[in-house]
Amino acid sequence: MESYNFDKLIDRTGTDAYKYENLKSVFGRTDLLPLWVADMDFETPPFITDALRKRMEHPVFGYTVKPKDLWPAVTDWIESHHGWKVKSEWLTFIPGIVRGIGMAINVFVKKDEKVIIQPPVYHPFRLVPQANHRELVYNPLHENADGSYSMDFENLEKVADEKCRMLILSNPHNPGGIVWDRETLVRLAEFCYSRNILVISDEIHCDMTLWDNKHIPFASVSDEAAACSITFGAPSKTFNIAGIVSSYAIVPDDSIRHRFYSWMEANELNSPTLFSSIATVAAFREGEEWRRQMLHYVEGNIEYVIGFCKEFLPEIRPVRPQASFLVWLDCRNLGLNHEQLVDLFVNKAHLAFNDGAMFGQGGDGFMRMNVGTPLTIVKQAMSQMKTAVDSL
Ligand SMILES: Cc1ncc(COP(=O)(O)O)c(C=O)c1O
Repeated sequence: MESYNFDKLIDRTGTDAYKYENLKSVFGRTDLLPLWVADMDFETPPFITDALRKRMEHPVFGYTVKPKDLWPAVTDWIESHHGWKVKSEWLTFIPGIVRGIGMAINVFVKKDEKVIIQPPVYHPFRLVPQANHRELVYNPLHENADGSYSMDFENLEKVADEKCRMLILSNPHNPGGIVWDRETLVRLAEFCYSRNILVISDEIHCDMTLWDNKHIPFASVSDEAAACSITFGAPSKTFNIAGIVSSYAIVPDDSIRHRFYSWMEANELNSPTLFSSIATVAAFREGEEWRRQMLHYVEGNIEYVIGFCKEFLPEIRPVRPQASFLVWLDCRNLGLNHEQLVDLFVNKAHLAFNDGAMFGQGGDGFMRMNVGTPLTIVKQAMSQMKTAVDSL
């Protein structure tokens, strides 16, 4: 069995990497360890680069049809990993999940209708509806005494009025790394189905559950869930190919599917690019061993962060993620206001993390750290954090 090397440091300069090139414009300086944007610093696995390279050997890159194995590769993967039987005809390519959210808003939410989100949550869930001039309704997550999160159904009853047409679900949830349990998803489906609210279930992080956590696809939990939802997925986070853009939508309900897919077809937004299909098939047909080893490595990085904070930075409490490579750091015990906290991380610790406030209500006092990077970088980041906190 091949053993993959996640310790390898890869110089990304000169590749127009977003997380490096935007340091100056976002943080005001460039001398920062960039552990923010959610891609990983690991090498894209060789079975993907080999498949792309093989196609590059042919000198013509003309218009292409979908490879025959594209949807079987996706449906086989979903069935074997998540126990959900997806029919090929339920699937379509989408040109990115954030774009998918934008398209779904334009198709399903009228100008005077509203979109529900549950902060703290991935910020485009707020930015995309806002940019499309749709009103947002907030149902903040409930923070439990042990620091974990639950959905607040009592508040949802209160805030959801008859103008609410869509709820955007992060499943698993970014930034908290929450793997939603079946009971929560069933209850959410009952609620949304009964009020004619379409659930957009963004499952981009679903193939990265950690330890013994198990992802449950929203649409698989009940007939109601299947009848009121669009699921978005992609191999892009798991296999570190975000730049290739390889997302898909799954819509089991005939009428929702017809409405959404005919609009996409009319605008030619549903055709995969040449390289996205090749990368997707390679990832889902050959990627299981790499995925397991990558997640095992990420678990080690998370344990390091948790252990380090416990020993040297007790004021910072990492929320142990149940999925993905993002660690939500509760820094409220440092007693700093928002400006001071950002100043501490950026100007004293020289760390580019996502500032929790950007994820909306409940995010203040938190920082999101990306540990999809070699352990030496994680160690360096924690040491820089300690030096900065010690200087307070
Ligand atoms: C929850 C979530 N959805 C979507 C995306 C981005 O997806 P895409 O690049 O396909 O738009 C991210 C990236 O961080 C994410 O965390």
